[in-house]
Amino acid sequence: MAFSTIEWDNGKIKLIDQTLLPNEFKHIYCDDLPSIWEAIKSLRVRGAPAIGIAGALGAVLGIWNSAAKTYELFLAELKEATDYLATSRPTAVNLFWALDRITNTAKENSNLSISELKEVLLAEAQVIIEEDKAMCRAIGKHGMALLNENDTILTHCNAGGLATSDYGTALAVMFSAHEAGKKISVFADETRPLLQGARLTTWELMQAGIDVTLICDNMAAQVMKEGKIQNVIVGADRIAANGDTANKIGTYNVAILADAHDIPFYVAAPTSTLDFNLKTGSEIPIEQRSSEEVTEGFGKMTAPDGVKVYSPAFDVTPASLVTAIITENGVAHPPFTDSLKLMRNA
Ligand code: MRU
Repeated sequence: MAFSTIEWDNGKIKLIDQTLLPNEFKHIYCDDLPSIWEAIKSLRVRGAPAIGIAGALGAVLGIWNSAAKTYELFLAELKEATDYLATSRPTAVNLFWALDRITNTAKENSNLSISELKEVLLAEAQVIIEEDKAMCRAIGKHGMALLNENDTILTHCNAGGLATSDYGTALAVMFSAHEAGKKISVFADETRPLLQGARLTTWELMQAGIDVTLICDNMAAQVMKEGKIQNVIVGADRIAANGDTANKIGTYNVAILADAHDIPFYVAAPTSTLDFNLKTGSEIPIEQRSSEEVTEGFGKMTAPDGVKVYSPAFDVTPASLVTAIITENGVAHPPFTDSLKLMRNA
């Protein structure tokens, strides 16, 4: 990709401020825990895998200047950092997965000096980034086999390079197909209230030279009825053991519409998005966002002052509406309780 979503830069975390896109392409540097927490919370960095990477790098940032003299004090500082980062956003399980990985690495290396430990934790965060890159490419490769020549795909929100370290999940399928010479086109849902589809997905696809058409969320049914869509591909923030899938609010609507129009509905996600601790999607915590994002998301009031607002940031698509889940280890088909286990253990 022509950009790096998030990286370690000399004791700081460098990331693209996605709230400014597509009008401004700007990097920001987070040099303490509150600044990376705020960047996650306010969606400067966003998308489940990228949030995981922000968590891993954030945990390293939290102990980078530690003056702890003992392993126990160091571990206590790390715990304080990971507990704090874990309060930023609740739905994408990749955040908790990455924080656990950094913590477990610290626990497995209790024999090292504090300065060596810091380097080992940074190296583990870099491994997470490298694995994420490979994962995106593998999802692209597995997913593109599901597409036919001249297919048009509908996607919701942004599951592209901006939502990962590089290349994306749902968009990886489109990038791979395009790079392999398959002729495809895409409809991108605008994705109210924060417009990740309009601002980010179209931006990424246009840069890649893929034919993309923007629609408002409430146009999807009509577009499907007109026969314009052959596949839906979306990302995921957390997938329960039975395949129920949390993704950006509005994804469930799209899944119902796809079912009603007999269109395959694919979820593309790495195995780090699987949460086998949860039997079904009803246990997935759904983030609630502020009313201002709905009433004046981009600086202009679009509703009466003081109106009551309800704003869940994610919804859960039942597994019964999911045709298949594309992971880095292959494509899982129903029943997901069995096939997802195979993907995780592959
Ligand atoms: O609130 P966001 O922008 O972080 O939500 C992002 C999504 O819902 C993505 O579809 C999901 O995280 C998958 S990203 C590869």
